[in-house]
Amino acid sequence: MAENPLLIPGSTILVVDYGGQYAHLIARRLRELGVLAVITPYTRMGGEDLSKYSAVVLSGSHRSVLEADPAVMESARKILGDAETPVLGVCFGHQLIAEVLGGVVEKGCGEYGRVKVRLVEQDMLFHGWDGEEYVWMSHGDCVSKPPPGSRVLAVSENGLTAALKIPLGRRVVYTVQFHPEVSHTVKGLKLLDNFTRLAGAGRKWVREYYFSLAVVELEKYRSVEGPVVAAVSGGVDSTVAAVLARRVLGERVVPVLVDHGLFREGEVEEVVENLARAGLEPLVLDEGERFLSRLEGVVDCEERRRIIGEEFARVFDQVMEGQGARLFIQGTTYPDIVESGGTGVADRIKSHHNVAGLPQWFRGKYLVAEPLKHLYKDEVREVARMLGVPEYFVKRHPFPGPGLAVRVIGVFNRRKLEVCRKASAIVEQVLRRHGLLDKVWQAFAVVGDDKWVGVKGDARRVGYVVIVRIVESSDAMTADYFKPPYSVLDEVSGEITRSIEDVTMVAYAVTTKPPSTIEPC
Ligand code: XMP
Repeated sequence: MAENPLLIPGSTILVVDYGGQYAHLIARRLRELGVLAVITPYTRMGGEDLSKYSAVVLSGSHRSVLEADPAVMESARKILGDAETPVLGVCFGHQLIAEVLGGVVEKGCGEYGRVKVRLVEQDMLFHGWDGEEYVWMSHGDCVSKPPPGSRVLAVSENGLTAALKIPLGRRVVYTVQFHPEVSHTVKGLKLLDNFTRLAGAGRKWVREYYFSLAVVELEKYRSVEGPVVAAVSGGVDSTVAAVLARRVLGERVVPVLVDHGLFREGEVEEVVENLARAGLEPLVLDEGERFLSRLEGVVDCEERRRIIGEEFARVFDQVMEGQGARLFIQGTTYPDIVESGGTGVADRIKSHHNVAGLPQWFRGKYLVAEPLKHLYKDEVREVARMLGVPEYFVKRHPFPGPGLAVRVIGVFNRRKLEVCRKASAIVEQVLRRHGLLDKVWQAFAVVGDDKWVGVKGDARRVGYVVIVRIVESSDAMTADYFKPPYSVLDEVSGEITRSIEDVTMVAYAVTTKPPSTIEPC
């Protein structure tokens, strides 16, 4: 949405991006409420005319207010200096506003993941909230002294200021330490809804706009002549991008699936069969050996991601040359970009193979179209349904582009890859048997270098530790671990240790995102 040229008068909110992982998610939630949100990095605030917006939201950040650069402070002063436009500060935004208005921000008082907050004063911002609610926090600093004239509306279970109301000029400034935009803040959407109403923002945004955003991205390339290569992996993102490309650019779009040897058990055959049902018969390239021989022995996961991105680019370079194509299409979504540090102001969490992992020379040599780059996975799923893409793809769990390579921790080798592949298949089978697979966001197994002494067949056996990770999420930006019945975990553990000879321990991952991420690396 960064370049969105459309402003809907009376229904547009400006989100100022300070580099937080969730800045775009705020915009997305506002769209869910029927309000258009436009994102601007704080570095471009100087050129913004605030009178065009119904309100301004200040996002989170990976930085500390105490070390903020002058442009950060300037942007906040400009926003707070405008007497008319309602303001909501979120996380870093909360601390920034407090600091600029004379409050005190301190280091070393972080809160991460699920935290309970208690409302200490009634306010329309919290209309529909109970006296205590669970919210999602991800901060290292906190506001230890609110600014003069402000009212504390909520405090966290750790006794920290969780929400402030600051009368300023002819409007009100609200700040919250938690993230109302993430789905794990139970009544977060209600709070944003309340804020848009307090700000008087109209509801004129329609959901079909997701679809138009993707089509507009492809329309830009209509005049590019010759064959077009669309990378497909069997995931919903690349399938939707290829189906859309076929509709907009025609039969000259050639879907290509590169088998990097890192797919799950039986996955390539299953995917090819289903792609045919979506009208796509991909060219399948078996390149497993090429990828695996380069990955053998590599410890650093970011290095593995880089190698995979580079090999993908080399393989696709050969395909593009062979086809005489200039345009390359891939199913990059917004979280891939933000986690790769691609917005310019956010920190790099992981180099997604298709964003930070795709070498610059490839982007220099070819045109790369990413029609879904403004969307989240659940929005892509909506577009998939609008296009009539088979349910098989719509319901599939996300699977990382670098495949099982990011589920092996420590030294990469073929044995660990095999253990990971077999254990993942068991996790999926057991959940499917209990009707749980479709209810969770992702379910898989991870293997590292740690060993556990076991006793198998009355003999000492030193084997791998397999970590099972099953998470619930709606957009992958936050996640909670799934709580299956113990009997299901028993089955998973029993089947893994029985059928994989060199596994002697199965552990269950019980950490939320944040502070963890979904994949191990
Ligand atoms: P994390 O592990 O960062 O992952 O919480 C968020 C979501 O992204 C998926 N993921 C990837 N998807 N290429 C992708 O296409 C990648 O390099 C990649 N790395 C992580 C992950 O499975 C989760 O759904």
